[in-house]
Amino acid sequence: MSELATALLSENVNFKNEHPGKNNSFIEILAGLHQKQKTINPKYFYDTRGSELFERITTSPEYYPTRVERALYTQHANTMAEYCGENCVLIEPGSGSSEKVRLLLESLKPAAYVPMDIAKDFLQHSAIKLGKEFSWLNVHAVCADFGNYDEAPKGLPEGKRVIFYPGSTLGNMTPDVAKQFLRNLSTWLGHDGGILIGIDLHKSTETLTAAYNDQEGITAEFNLNALNHINTLTNSNFNVNNFSHQAFYNVELQRIEMHLESNCDHIVRLGESAIAFSEGETIHTENSYKYTQESFQALVEDAGFSVRQSWLDDQQLFSVHYLDLL
Ligand code: TRP
Repeated sequence: MSELATALLSENVNFKNEHPGKNNSFIEILAGLHQKQKTINPKYFYDTRGSELFERITTSPEYYPTRVERALYTQHANTMAEYCGENCVLIEPGSGSSEKVRLLLESLKPAAYVPMDIAKDFLQHSAIKLGKEFSWLNVHAVCADFGNYDEAPKGLPEGKRVIFYPGSTLGNMTPDVAKQFLRNLSTWLGHDGGILIGIDLHKSTETLTAAYNDQEGITAEFNLNALNHINTLTNSNFNVNNFSHQAFYNVELQRIEMHLESNCDHIVRLGESAIAFSEGETIHTENSYKYTQESFQALVEDAGFSVRQSWLDDQQLFSVHYLDLL
């Protein structure tokens, strides 16, 4: 694949590389591992292997969010399209395989679709595939760390901006960071733009815990793969056999926490640094906050948005909302 900053991948698909590069990663990863509660930013899940594993998680029987969210798009595509308006420019941060947007494209007929993802090869591959399937669609793929992307992507066609943010990805941020992120997105939108967003809902601990501990062990492999990715990025020597996957619901904070627990006392090298792990100590790799209709509404209003419309399944497992500026 091309290493150029911008490239035409196919007739209707262009690509821009704004990946932050490896050096930034090293500093960020080291800082996270030096904290008292060691952490890894969840974006490090997503190398090509991680993106593939994530796709497999979404089809596992325990992981209800994707199934339910897809059904909501299928059922309500036309109404959702009315909120988004004709010929919008549809921007998707963390687009992965761009599977979900397929369910909306025929109803939405956007002037352009802008998938943004940190996993470059996976993004290019997904964008080309999508462009082939929807030959009328203008695809402007951008490889970027959307969490640190302050300005709206440039060089896009005119038109109302709609941000498509499915998968409860906002739930992977703490509520404070989520608010800041939404405020930042509002600067991408102009006066008439909106956000179509998927949010997972609070429910029984049993259902939630099962979704992040699938029987086949794909989520475990996905969690552990972050260490392989970090080895590639930083020349570190994490051994996945020294860690175990852990995921549980923190009822008080209404979030799933994913951790990698060290199986033994050992030392990992990262460049010049040596990081000591004791048995039972964890690296906190991800949160997935769960909301109620009320707590989500309060969050977005705090960030300067209002909930225009919400779509929920009968069992109230998952929700999709159209937000616009207050
Ligand atoms: N944002 C989704 C969620 O929190 C998807 C996701 C991100 C996920 N990382 C994950 C799902 C790890 C399972 C395991 O559910």
